[in-house]
Amino acid sequence: MKIGIGNDHTGVEMKREITEHLRSRGYEVVNYGTDSTESCNYPVYGERVAMAVVSGEVELGILICGTGVGISLAANKVNGVRAVVCSEPYSAKLSRQHNDTNILAFGARVIGIETAKMIVDEWLNAQFLGGRHAERVAMIMDIERRN
Ligand code: RB5
Repeated sequence: MKIGIGNDHTGVEMKREITEHLRSRGYEVVNYGTDSTESCNYPVYGERVAMAVVSGEVELGILICGTGVGISLAANKVNGVRAVVCSEPYSAKLSRQHNDTNILAFGARVIGIETAKMIVDEWLNAQFLGGRHAERVAMIMDIERRN
């Protein structure tokens, strides 16, 4: 599976470690983030990964900024994106099973690398359950269409 990863200046080191972790587990990783620790604008990278996901260039996306908040907000402005920001693995897993999230975000200033790896693993190992959850996700996407 091909995963797109993006980050601002706060997430350079965590991006590097998560990329290594993913590659060691057999994932192909495409880097859309900055590799510089110079201050930069997280919406640029949120949009890049979001566009890569909705265009099918990559299957899923991972975003890292200081809190995961700004970069996920930016990604969620792109039609077709369901980005979740997580600081623990349970929500990450359920966000896939119930909400069919296609982008995972977290904060390099909020969680440590081992927690980040657990979150990533739970998210990637989980599968969308469909059924009543599919109806609810369709309702979310309908809000996007109507507004
Ligand atoms: C950068 O200082 C910080 O605002 C950014 O990484 C992120 O946390 C925004 O939500």
